[in-house]
Order: sequence, then structure tokens, then C-alpha cells
Amino acid sequence: MTIRIYVPKDACAIACGADEVAEAIAAAAVSARQPVEIVRNGSRGMLWLEPMVEVVTPEGRIAYGPVEAGDVEGLFAAGFLTGGDHALRIGKPEEHPFLAKQTRLTFARCGIIDPASYADYRAHGGYKGLERALQLGPAEIIEEVKKSGLRGRGGAGFPTAIKWKTVADAKADRKYIVCNADEGDSGTFADRMIMEGDPFELIEGMTIAGIAVGATKGYVYTRSEYPHAIWAMEKAIEVARAHGMLGVNIAGSPYSFDMEVRMGAGAYVCGEETALLDSLEGKRGTVRAKPPLPAHKGLFQKPTVINNVLSLTAVPHILADGGEFYANFGMGRSRGTMPIQIAGNVKFGGLFETAFGITLGELINDIGGGTATGKPVKAAQVGGPLGAYVPTWQFDLPFDYEAFAAKDALIGHGGIVVFDESADLAKMARFAMEFCSVESCGKCTPCRIGSTRGVELMDKIIAGERVEANLATLTDLCQTMKLGSLCALGGFTPYPVLSALNHFPEEFGAPPRRLEAAE
Ligand SMILES: Cc1cc2nc3c(=O)[nH]c(=O)nc-3n(C[C@H](O)[C@H](O)[C@H](O)COP(=O)(O)O)c2cc1C
Ligand code: SF4
Repeated sequence: MTIRIYVPKDACAIACGADEVAEAIAAAAVSARQPVEIVRNGSRGMLWLEPMVEVVTPEGRIAYGPVEAGDVEGLFAAGFLTGGDHALRIGKPEEHPFLAKQTRLTFARCGIIDPASYADYRAHGGYKGLERALQLGPAEIIEEVKKSGLRGRGGAGFPTAIKWKTVADAKADRKYIVCNADEGDSGTFADRMIMEGDPFELIEGMTIAGIAVGATKGYVYTRSEYPHAIWAMEKAIEVARAHGMLGVNIAGSPYSFDMEVRMGAGAYVCGEETALLDSLEGKRGTVRAKPPLPAHKGLFQKPTVINNVLSLTAVPHILADGGEFYANFGMGRSRGTMPIQIAGNVKFGGLFETAFGITLGELINDIGGGTATGKPVKAAQVGGPLGAYVPTWQFDLPFDYEAFAAKDALIGHGGIVVFDESADLAKMARFAMEFCSVESCGKCTPCRIGSTRGVELMDKIIAGERVEANLATLTDLCQTMKLGSLCALGGFTPYPVLSALNHFPEEFGAPPRRLEAAE
């Protein structure tokens, strides 16, 4: 009997040797005269266990990890084809606490299915959302998304239904759906994981968006650093087309929608929606002044929906299960689930999808297991390079857009980068300024010139030169950048800088003034 074995084709697993492991398993199976079928799935998101190999046994899938090619012989000797005992045996993945504690909607299939298999996708609930969308029609699709309370997962948290309604109401001969898969934030990998592990979900989400607003063409904009995601997406698009789920008259309906993947060179600013549009049009990625909004004049000056991968991949579930079902998860105005990415100096890093409301402390200490170095946690930067450094005494902060904003912090794309006590927050503040100066598109002065002056000031402060006077100038400069920048790259760089200064003033040679500590 042929035994099915799953070896992830996720970029993280491949970086840890998954291709070599797959080859070793195939060779060992030939030697053992045991027919096996190796399926290259996505990752389950427990990244410290990659490559995590799963064997299908009568009692279910049994996981082993992290497996190296050199372990394969021993695994065969231990009877791993029938779930035998071995030091690397994890057991049933779904019973592992890291997975068992999650509420997986967007990532429900990731790591379970064969990402290239249309049949697998359908067998696990795929295209139920599109089927319902076709019954409802455009206006009711948008109503359902509105009921769900879905907010953009790319960073700004803007209500998705409002964006869609604006594009739906716009009059034009052509409209577009653009998926922002640039994923430039530090510590983030959810977009990549879903494109590699469940690409049909993104195709389904974009197709529903197209029907809702009257767009017939979609683009996934991603970066050259994501070759595996590009490969998986292009393959899935081809398969969807062959099954009549993309192209003219999707699934026999009156609606038509097709899409393709476009690759950028990986500039951080090209994740900003208007710079992305310029890049997609073949120009240098430079931020456009708003108005006009992309919803009115976007790609090629036509009305365009731009949404993050995670916003679009939430949509099939919202349509399949209903907006109210989705809205039942979460807290306050942050509804549904958020695929949170735990990274940096952390013991158990990975993808953790859960309802909004979980605290930062739970995520870092209970789920992440604290730091990988074993030293005490000092702070976490949440929301990418423009996000604040949150100190441990604020770890009771719930994952909620408004709660974070109230502390001058942001959730962004849900990336958490953990730092232990050895981190030098003054150097990190300097890095934030340097990052801005390197990545600035150069269109506006506060960002282009301000960030360079910011680096110079930080160098002087770190060298102990006229610290108080330079800190006053730095604070003033941050205010100018916040208020005067054209986009959030210049406008939000002050957040990591000022959070580091406010929470860890002694590292800047400034007198202690840790106000929050007393709260
Ligand atoms: C400098 C900068 C970089 C950004 N990078 C990304 C990115 O990589 N991915 C993303 O989805 N949004 C990014 N955004 C946010 C987008 O401009 C936009 O708000 C988002 O794509 C809208 O989709 P959503 O409503 O689904 O979140 C970035 C914004 C800025 C200012
Ligand atoms: S803030 Fe920076 S990245 Fe944004 S438009 Fe201005 S110069 Fe460009």
C-alpha cells in the first residue's frame, strides 16, 4: 500500500533543508521497497519544527520534526512509516498546544492540503464562499463583508467593505483588484505562507472581490524574494483557469475575472499602495499624493481595490459562513481573527491565528515561550519597522487596533519581533531612522531630509554629545516628520524612535522618565 508523506515546500522549511529531506525519504523508500507518495504541502506554522514531516497512518497524520536528511535512515529504522516512536516524533499535529490553542479560519487548510491540488482545495471547503457570492450578487457580497467588520490587514485597518463600495459605485470601463503581497514588514511571513500553502484561497478571495466591485482583472504584487510563493500562485492560477474558475464566465456564471502575478524588486515603500501602483505600471515606485484615492483613480487611473493578502483570504470564509459568524470573533472594533507572526528572539516562533483580544504577553511568553536565548524579554516591536517598541510592562495590551493606538503603537500586519535584555534600544532607534533614510522614496522633505538628519542626531546622542539638546532636536524633528510626511513611511518612523526613547530613556543618556512604568 502506498503511504502518503507530507514534506513542506514552504520557503522556511526549504531553507531548513526540506528538499533534501524529501529526496532522502524518496531514496530510503526505494531501498525499503515501500511505495510512498510525497506531497509537498505548506507549513503548519510551527517554524521551530521545520522541516516538519507528516506520515498518514490509520490513526491520522503523525508528525516528526525538525527532520534533517541525516535523520531519515534512523526514522525508517524506527518504523516512521507507521508512526513509530522516535526522538523527533511530535504526534498528531492538531493536538500540539501551539496549534490546538488557535482559531484557524484563514489558515484552516494551510499545511493540511496539497497547495497545487484543486480537488484537495474543494474537498476542504474551498470555493464555498465563491458559490455563495455568485448566489448573492455584488451588493449583498459587500453587505456580508460589512457585517463581518473586516478591516484591512495590511496595516491601516481600514474597513474593507467601505473600500469595496467606493469602487463598486465608481463608473468606469475597467476596474482592478490589486493584492498587496509585498510583505515588507520585519518579522512578517503570513502572506508568503498562505500563497505557498493555500494559493487557491487568495484566488477565491480576489475573484469574490472582482464580482463585488465589477472588476474583471486582478494582480498579485509581490517581491522577487518570494520565488516559492510566486511559483505556487502561478501554478494555482493555471489550475483554476483549467477548471473554469478564472477567465470568462467563472463557474458558468455571467461574471468574468482573471488574474496574474507581478514581481517587484523588494523596496519597502513599494508596499505603500500608491507606490505599488506606480511600480505595477512599470514606473519607479514613488508615493502618489492623495486624493485621488486608488478607489477612484488607481491602477492605470482606473478604480482599483487594493487589499492585503490576509484581507482577501478572509473573504471566502466570510462568504461561506456569513459575516456575522466572522464578527463573533474578536473585541471592540477589531473583529474576526488575526494571523499573528511571532518572530525575532523567541523560542517558539511561527504563525498563530487567533481572535483579536489576546494579549501581547500571552503571545510572547505563553505561546512563544519567551526568548530563544533564555534571557529575560526586554521589549517587542510590533507592526513592522514603523511600529513602536512595546516594553514588558505594557504586555497586558490586547491585540486590538484601538488599544494599540491608545499607546502610540500599531498592530500593522501582525508581526511581533521579540528582543531580550541585551538589545540596545538607542541603536534600534538609530536603525529606525536609517531604515527610513534608505527606503524613503524621496518625494517629500520631512522624510527624505529628516531621516538623514535623524541618523546624524542619533549618532551624536549615542556618542554622548550634547545629549539633552540633541534629544530636544530629535523630538522636534520627529514631530515634523509625523505631521509633515506624505505617507506613513516618514510619518510613522517617529513611533519606534520615540517609543524607545520614552520607555528606555537611560539608554539614550537621558534622565529617567519612564512614565508608563508607574501606571
Ligand atoms: C511604507 C509602507 C509600506 C507598506 N507595506 C505594505 C505591505 O507590504 N503590504 C500591505 O498589505 N500593505 C502595506 N502598506 C499599507 C498599504 O499602503 C495599504 O494600506 C494596504 O495595502 C491596504 O490593504 P488593506 O486595506 O487590505 O490593509 C504599507 C504602507 C506604507 C506606508
Ligand atoms: S514619507 Fe517618505 S516614502 Fe512617503 S512620500 Fe514622503 S519621501 Fe516618500
